[in-house]
Amino acid sequence: MARVTPDQIRQMKARGERIPMLTAYDYPTAQILDAAGVPMMLVGDTLGMVVLGYDSTLPVTVDDIIRHTQAVVRGSKRALIVADLPFGSFQVSPEETMRHAVRIMKEAAPQAMKLEGGVRSAPGVRMLVEAGIPVMGHVGLTPQSVNVFGGFKVQGKTEAAARALLDDVAALEEAGVFAIVLELVPAELSKLITERTAVPTIGIGAGPHCDGEVQVIHDILGLYPDFTPRHTKRYAELGNALRDAATTYVSEVRERTFPTQAQSAAIDAAVIEALRKDPKR
Ligand code: KIV
Repeated sequence: MARVTPDQIRQMKARGERIPMLTAYDYPTAQILDAAGVPMMLVGDTLGMVVLGYDSTLPVTVDDIIRHTQAVVRGSKRALIVADLPFGSFQVSPEETMRHAVRIMKEAAPQAMKLEGGVRSAPGVRMLVEAGIPVMGHVGLTPQSVNVFGGFKVQGKTEAAARALLDDVAALEEAGVFAIVLELVPAELSKLITERTAVPTIGIGAGPHCDGEVQVIHDILGLYPDFTPRHTKRYAELGNALRDAATTYVSEVRERTFPTQAQSAAIDAAVIEALRKDPKR
């Protein structure tokens, strides 16, 4: 089965077809999302927070992204898999960006890379695109710069900030990205950006007018108790389901109602009898 291509994502915008995207970090989740028809999955550096328990995405390494991308690629057949370039892997120079992207492409085989930043990241984006690596941009709130923003705050609210965001999008479009994440951008500004660019916009906390939407899988499943962003919606309460299942398991093991014969293997009674008759061994 052929995977969704970056060109098909571009065509979805041209046809006015919405583009759903979710993060995935492991094999079983990738299998389930693929079966559900999710066309694009992101192995985002949010894995640092929702899977590894850090309080930001900054500690995530290229090795972390490789390990989790390998699992997601193994678990999926149809979706386009996008791997994130983590903090420190692309900020130094276009050459460093290239070196890390090539390593991830060789060792984990995603179909595309994502990196944060607009104007400042455009030279690195261009180098990857010219080398044949499809790139997704990411502007607005870029979590790797959380210490500059002073928290996870909506971006582009003043005229100057909104113009800077438009410049970022134009620079990424010019550099050749196939899609752009708009994170925490006011809805009407996302609408304007989406109208002005031929590149598909994928929103998160950016209102209903983007060409597509990306959400962190743990947020929509109720699996990240530390923080629930305002822009998310719970589609399931798997955290509660997990806790209830674990509580029942603990009490059944304690009360000896699990495991039972149904989960056990049989042995010829004569073997046991022989062992009982010879208590030494
Ligand atoms: O790392 C990530 O999961 C992301 C999404 C929030 C877009 O960048």
